[in-house]
Amino acid sequence: MPDMPQVSQTVSHDADMRRRARAVIPGGLWGHLDASRLPEGYPQFFARADGCHLVDVDGRRFTDLMCSWGPIVLGHHAPVVEAAVAEQMALGDCMNGPAPVLVDLAELLVDMVPHADWCQFGKNGTDATTNCVTVARAATGRRKVLVATGAYHGAVPWCSPSVAGVTTEDRAHLLQFRFNDIASVERAVEQAGGDLAAIVVSAFKHDFGQRQELPTQEFANRVRALADETGAALILDDVRAGFRLDLGGSWEVLGIQPDLSAWSKAIANGYALSAVTGRDRFREAATQVFATGSFWCGAVPMAAAVATLTELRRIDGPARMRAMGQRLRDGLDERAARHGVRIDQSGPVQMPTLLFVDDTDWQRGNSFCAEVLRHGAYMHPKHNMFLSCAHTEADIDAVLKAADAGFAHVAR
Ligand SMILES: Cc1ncc(COP(=O)(O)O)c(C=O)c1O
Repeated sequence: MPDMPQVSQTVSHDADMRRRARAVIPGGLWGHLDASRLPEGYPQFFARADGCHLVDVDGRRFTDLMCSWGPIVLGHHAPVVEAAVAEQMALGDCMNGPAPVLVDLAELLVDMVPHADWCQFGKNGTDATTNCVTVARAATGRRKVLVATGAYHGAVPWCSPSVAGVTTEDRAHLLQFRFNDIASVERAVEQAGGDLAAIVVSAFKHDFGQRQELPTQEFANRVRALADETGAALILDDVRAGFRLDLGGSWEVLGIQPDLSAWSKAIANGYALSAVTGRDRFREAATQVFATGSFWCGAVPMAAAVATLTELRRIDGPARMRAMGQRLRDGLDERAARHGVRIDQSGPVQMPTLLFVDDTDWQRGNSFCAEVLRHGAYMHPKHNMFLSCAHTEADIDAVLKAADAGFAHVAR
């Protein structure tokens, strides 16, 4: 990989594509992939990807630290996944019913995930979190659901971070607590009274633009106990962190198992799939809820998932990502200190967040990332980033070299 990204055209294809997109797509792009929210210079459109590298439509090549915002966990075009995809594609994908691989995948997840007695599949993380809540309500016959302030659980009215088009009724039964704040969960549980269906927790506090917080042992113990005392479901939203921290679930390290978990992102190395896993107590409710979609039983993403999870287990993917994440964290600390720049790194090392101290408007973060991008690494100034098993020491060192230029720029 060259040290500097090569711009092979004088006229930017990206600018041209954005102009065309704005004419036919509201705002040019919707949702979190809208690059107009990123610093100047970030591409919107990509031409191709391989391993942990991306090439934009102008031919610039980057070492990627976003991994498609999570799904790419083994690297783009991981041979073991692509072989399974090709094999299933040749047999059939969207048929009148699922292929046998659905049962293979369900068995694999039930085997890997300690709390899982069963699982169901969908396409997006939002399908999975929404189904967890619906199953919890069906099982308990209750309505109230507790969520942490600022936590992201998806893009439908009950949980969207935007209030556009959302009615008060859509959220009438949501109550909030602060992550890691036991007193605030206890207050919310009391407020819900006998109507508490579920407590929803994220793997860790991974709110946008903020220092990330791991769950404390006391907090995890207390939400588990509150769910047990009230008969509500403890739902773990492992959509973002699932299969990066621990293959059995992100709260395994705490010894706390949820009743229901939502999974997606890394489950199939970029193929569209999500899953709900649950305990036997919720099996009957999961049978009753009408959860489905035209593409939910597609066989190709399931074949990709079996291959991805089997490979993650074989190579101990989380340990690999942890090692590379630690190399990145240490390297960033060392280089920032050398330039006299004060940074604040947080979150698990496999899902790092890099912020700058007293950078309330993200100005330093933005100019750092823009400079790093010019030097061939794609980082994010506000969101947590993602490591993959395709990142090698040489890739991390290339990112650190780019970061060195970024810190020098910020120091000036
Ligand atoms: C923690 C969490 N839950 C749910 C979702 C929703 O997943 P999806 O975008 O696949 O619908 C996301 C997506 O970023 C997420 O990070």
